[in-house]
Amino acid sequence: MTERAQKRQRDIEHAKRLLRMVRPYWKRLAGAMILMVLVGVSTSAMAFLVKPVMDKIFVAKDAGLLMLMPIAIVVLYMVKGLASYGQTYLMQYVGQRIVTQFRIDLYAHLQRLSLSYYDRTPTGELMSRITNDVNQMQGAVSSVVTGVLKDLFTIVGLIAVIIYRDWFLAVFALGVFPLCVIPLVKFGRRLRKISHRSQETMADVTVLLHETIAGARIVKGFCREDHETKRFTDEAFRLFRLRMKDISTRAMSSPLMEFLGGLGIAGILFYGGWQVINGVSTPGTFFSFLTALILLYEPVKRLSSMNNDVQNGLAAAERVYRVLDEPVEIAELAGAVELPPLQNEIRYAKVSFAYRPGEPVLREIDLIVPKGQAVALVGTSGGGKTTLVNLLPRFYEVTGGAILIDGVDIRQASLNSLRGQIAIVTQQTILFNDTVRNNIAYGRPEASEDEVRAAAEAAYATKFIERMPKGLDTMIGEGGVLLSGGERQRLSIARALLADRPILILDEATSSLDTESEMYVQKALENLMAGRTTFVIAHRLSTVQRADRILVISGGRIVEEGRHEQLVALGGVYTRLHSMQFAIDQGLEAITPEAANRAGEGS
Ligand SMILES: Nc1ncnc2c1ncn2[C@@H]1O[C@H](COP(=O)(O)OP(=O)(O)O)[C@@H](O)[C@H]1O
Ligand SMILES: [Mg+2]
Repeated sequence: MTERAQKRQRDIEHAKRLLRMVRPYWKRLAGAMILMVLVGVSTSAMAFLVKPVMDKIFVAKDAGLLMLMPIAIVVLYMVKGLASYGQTYLMQYVGQRIVTQFRIDLYAHLQRLSLSYYDRTPTGELMSRITNDVNQMQGAVSSVVTGVLKDLFTIVGLIAVIIYRDWFLAVFALGVFPLCVIPLVKFGRRLRKISHRSQETMADVTVLLHETIAGARIVKGFCREDHETKRFTDEAFRLFRLRMKDISTRAMSSPLMEFLGGLGIAGILFYGGWQVINGVSTPGTFFSFLTALILLYEPVKRLSSMNNDVQNGLAAAERVYRVLDEPVEIAELAGAVELPPLQNEIRYAKVSFAYRPGEPVLREIDLIVPKGQAVALVGTSGGGKTTLVNLLPRFYEVTGGAILIDGVDIRQASLNSLRGQIAIVTQQTILFNDTVRNNIAYGRPEASEDEVRAAAEAAYATKFIERMPKGLDTMIGEGGVLLSGGERQRLSIARALLADRPILILDEATSSLDTESEMYVQKALENLMAGRTTFVIAHRLSTVQRADRILVISGGRIVEEGRHEQLVALGGVYTRLHSMQFAIDQGLEAITPEAANRAGEGS
């Protein structure tokens, strides 16, 4: 199949899918259709009436008709106006409704896509899909639904009038139309290419915006404002050039059509005038014909710009469908079971994992964690600790082996019953631009005031919350920017406490904190860990020492395992990590690059 044929096939497919979305609104569409027929009939009737007006009023001077005609014209305009309003409203209703549905479907689908999709796709690009591309589809849908069908009936009616008035001349006039179609198709193709490129550029701009606005602190800190402004300027000008190409193509298509139309009218004038002068035809016939032809111009022109909009819309639809058709990698099985609350143990059975094929990050991990145990994961950066714990809530799917909770493979369990048992506190605290209260209650929105307060208390957050202007009702700013690192962390601990899940994952929860906040956070964490099965990743060995069991992860394997004293005595990776940590506590002079490298040898 050639590329163009494939493209056609895809377009047809997309158009079919769009039509399927229209189906539920068939009653409104049927109503709109009737109104369109009225618009078409009243427009054609006007052209039709030019003949009696000409021949009877102006040539034959019929006074009776003179009284009737103005009334007929007023009525026709009224009918046309009302019908036109009604059909625009109904059709737009359907169009806008479908586009809204698209936006919602797209968002809902994004919510279900796995983290690995988000790893691959820049946030700004996805935002651009939901905003820019859907907007462009909206433009196409509105132009199609209000334009094509309304104009179709009008065009049919007017063509009927010109054929009725003078079929020979009609054949000649309509012969000009195909001439206009050829450049239209060419323009359409060009526009579509431009539109595709400008939407991609738009996505790039959104990516840039998202990164540099979210990273404003870093941009300023490194004095890169001018650099970023220049990057933005380049993109903005790329967009400008594409827009100008688009505008120039559109602006060219309409004068060209007009010129071709002018040629036609000149020819018709010559032939028609000659016939009237020779008495073969009446002025009425000719002017009725000419009126219909001139009235045809607008709808045909609209139809031509509609082709452009349709091309743009299809280009946007293609990108939107690409996201919508992205398979949900981590989906629930058809007969997924409800996982009962953890009873006995969590088990990793020969678990392997790779983000990219051929680059294993975890290799055949075997691990049993009995209920209630606190397991610490330590090891060099990049060893696979975060990956190991991220497999438990199925943020990523194991590529080998299985993870079992009380003997049930987590892939058999429903996602809600699995994730509903796990609370996560990570180094980067993710808070939402909402009140303190809603952030704490995020995992359990139905929690009572007392429960929220108790969680805040246990997370050592009450003091600073009380200092805030509106207490629990204070908005915390996007991502919690109005709070310090330690405060943010304590809020996220309160959130985990309130969610009250039996399994807890702490991924470097205290790593980015200063000593004082760390102390509070540490205490808060102890409250959180009490009675829960916990995976704690930490580089501070003081945190780790209190765990029931320590696993040293390196190069995707568990290389050492035991309690603190046993591991120190072992003289392996843990001993080196421990002595480095000890050196940090003593002063940084003891750390040399060589010592650091030696500590990383295990990976
Ligand atoms: N989302 C990701 N996509 C691809 N590779 C990743 C991703 N996250 C981590 N990695 C890679 O996997 C390895 C283990 O990372 P990670 O589990 O974060 O280690 P740790 O938490 O022990 O520092 C590293 O080599 C890292 O580069
Ligand atoms: Mg990590």
